[in-house]
Amino acid sequence: MEKMIDKENQRFVTDSYHCWLQYRKIENADKYTNIASTISVALQSVVIDSAVNELKIALKSMLDIVPTVQQSVEDESSIILGTYESVNLNNYGISPKLFDDLNEEGYLVKTTDDNRQVLLIGKTDKGALYAAFHFLRILQQEESLIGLEIRETPKNQLRMMNQWDNMNGSIERGYSGNSIFFNDNDFTKDLARIKDYARLLSSVGINAISINNVNVWEVETKLLTKEFLPKVKEVATILRSYGITTYLSINYASPIELGNLPTADPLDKEVEKWWARKAEEIYSYIPDFGGFVVKADSEGRPGPFTYGRGHVEGANVLARALQPFNGKVVWRCFVYNCLQDWRDRKTDRARAAYDNFKPLDGQFLDNVILQVKNGPVDFQVREPISPLIGAMKETNQVVEFQIAQEYTGQQKDVCYLVPQWKEILNFDTYADGEGSTVKSIVDGSHYNYSHSGIAAVSNIGNDINWTGNTLAQANLYGFGRLTWNPDLSTEEITDEWIQLTFGHDPKVVEVLEFILLQSWRTYENYTAPLGVGWMVNPNHHYGPNVDGYEYSKWGTYHFADCKGIGVDRTMKTGTGYVGQYFGPNAERYNSLEDCPDELLLFFHHVPYTHKLHSGETVIQHIYNTHFQGVEEVETFIKKWNELEGKVENWVFENVKERFQLQLENAMEWRDRINTYFYRKSGIADEKNRTIY
Ligand code: GCU
Repeated sequence: MEKMIDKENQRFVTDSYHCWLQYRKIENADKYTNIASTISVALQSVVIDSAVNELKIALKSMLDIVPTVQQSVEDESSIILGTYESVNLNNYGISPKLFDDLNEEGYLVKTTDDNRQVLLIGKTDKGALYAAFHFLRILQQEESLIGLEIRETPKNQLRMMNQWDNMNGSIERGYSGNSIFFNDNDFTKDLARIKDYARLLSSVGINAISINNVNVWEVETKLLTKEFLPKVKEVATILRSYGITTYLSINYASPIELGNLPTADPLDKEVEKWWARKAEEIYSYIPDFGGFVVKADSEGRPGPFTYGRGHVEGANVLARALQPFNGKVVWRCFVYNCLQDWRDRKTDRARAAYDNFKPLDGQFLDNVILQVKNGPVDFQVREPISPLIGAMKETNQVVEFQIAQEYTGQQKDVCYLVPQWKEILNFDTYADGEGSTVKSIVDGSHYNYSHSGIAAVSNIGNDINWTGNTLAQANLYGFGRLTWNPDLSTEEITDEWIQLTFGHDPKVVEVLEFILLQSWRTYENYTAPLGVGWMVNPNHHYGPNVDGYEYSKWGTYHFADCKGIGVDRTMKTGTGYVGQYFGPNAERYNSLEDCPDELLLFFHHVPYTHKLHSGETVIQHIYNTHFQGVEEVETFIKKWNELEGKVENWVFENVKERFQLQLENAMEWRDRINTYFYRKSGIADEKNRTIY
C-alpha cells in the first residue's frame, strides 16, 4: 500500500485513509474561530499530549487555525483541557459534584456562561482525551457550542478490539489487506500506522486491544518471550497514549513450547510457577499489560482438556499468575467439537457454549472474563442470541461481535451491522426475570460483574482505506460508539458517521443512510433464509454452497429434503436447544406458531408449504427474498451512482467496484438457492420468474 502514498505532497491518495477523522474544512467557520485560538493544558501526561495533538491537527484542518498551546491554565484561554482535579473548577462556577457519578473515563464538555471558552475536563486524563474527541465531533458536525453542557461516562468497562493478525502479516478472516502490526514473522516498522489506528479506536471509545490472532501459531507463541516483548512494549506505549490497554492472545501449550516443560496441565505445580514467572516478566516490560485472550480446546487448539482438566482449572491458573498485576484472562467460549456427528438430531453444535460453561458458574476467579459470541453458532447474518449470555450470574461476561464480515459479505458486499448489534444488545434474555437485557448483562450492572463489556473481531488491514470497502468503516465506527453507549440509536450513529466522513450534502446523507440502513436486510434476503445459516462455500466462507459447509461430513446443516427444511431444536422432537433459553424466550422459540419468522428454520423443521406470519409459504419466501435481494443491490448501485462528483472520486470508484462484486454475488446466491430449493421441493414460483 506504500505506493499509494503521494510522497511529493506528503498526503495520501485518498482522504478515506483518515476515516471519520478527516477533519473536513468547515465552510462557515466564523462561529468557531474565537473558541479555537488557545489551548490551556492543566496537566502533563502522554494521554493529554495525544488530546492536544488531536486538537491541533483538527483545528488546523477544519478551521485553518493553529492554536497557541499553554502549559498552564490561563483564564482567558479559549479551550481548557485537563482533569477535574487539575482545573480550578471554581473559576468556572462548576461544582466538582458534577463528576461524582462519572467513572474514570467520564468527562464534561462545557462552554462557559459567556460562551467564550470551552472546558474539556475528564475525571482522569483518559476522560479529557475522550472529551477532546467529542468536542471535535461537535465541530465537525457543525453543531452549536452555545450553552453546551455534556456529561458522559462509558456504559461498558471493557471496550475491546480483537485483532486476528498473524505475525507473517496475514489476517485470519481479514478482507482489507495485511496486518498493520506484523510482517514477515516480526513487528512492522510502520509505527505511524499503528498510532493512526489508535487514534481511530480511541476517538470512538475503544480502550483495549489484543493484537494477535486467537489461533496462536508457532511464531506468535513467542510474543511472550524476550525476543518480542520489547516490541510488544513499543506498541503498547503507542496504544497507551490513546488510553488503550494491550492484551495478547496466548497459546495454552506455552509452558511446553516456551518453557520446555513436559506438560501444560494447569494443576501441575511447575506449570503454575511457569505462568507466574511469565506474568512477572511481561509486566516488567509493560506495567499496565491487560492480560491474555485464550482460545482453548476449540478447533484443534490446545487446552486443559488434554490433561483431563476443564475450563475452570484452565483459566484460573492463568488468572492467578496475572492477578498480582491486575491482569485479566479473557477466556473464549467458542468451544465446540467440530467433528461431532449430528445425524441423530440430538447432537447440536448450537448447544455447545452453554453446555460447556453454564455448569461452571461461580467457579472462575474474579479476574477471568468469559467472552461469548453473540450467537450460539458463528456470526451468521441471522442467529438467535446466545443463551449463555446472562445465564451465569457469578461469572464475568463479555459479548463478542465480529466487525470483520466473515459471513456477511467480506467487505465486498455492504452489510452495515449496527442494526444487528442493536438488536442483540436490546434483547431481553429473561435470565434474571424481565429486563435482563444483553446490554445490562454485559455492562455489568445486572449482576454486578466486576469486569465485563463488549469485544469484537476487527475489520481493518493495511489497505489504504483500512477496511476494503470504504463503507465498511461505518461498522468500525458504529461498534466503538455502541460499546461506549449501547443506547445510541442506529440512526444517530449512522448520521454521525456519514457527516464526519462525507460532510453534509443532503443528497449524500440521504443515499448513504438508505444504503446502510437497508444493507443488513438485503444481505440476509439473498443469502441463507429464515435464520437457517451457513450455506456458504467451505473454508473461505464467501458465496453460496447450499450443502458446502466444511464440517458437513455428517450431512447438511439445514436438513433440507424434498419435503422440508430447518433444524428441529425444540424440546420434544428436536435437540432440546430451546431449553437453554429462559421463560418466554424458551416458549416462543419452542412454539411453531410463535417463533419469529426470521428465526423459524433455526428452531424448526417445516414443510416448504408452511405458512409464515407474513402470509407467505416458506418456499415462496425463499424465492421472493432472493429475487428481492438482487433488486435491492441494483437499487443501491443506482443510488450510489448518483453520488458521482459528490464524494471523493477514489471512494466513489472503490465503492462502485465493490457493488459490482456484490451484485454478482447476490445473483449467484439467488440462482443457486432458488434452483436448489425448486429442485428439492418441486414447487414452482407463484410469480413464474425464471429460476436457473
Ligand atoms: C470461526 C472462524 C475462524 C475463527 C473462529 C474463532 O470459526 O471461521 O477463522 O478462528 O471462528 O472465533 O475462533
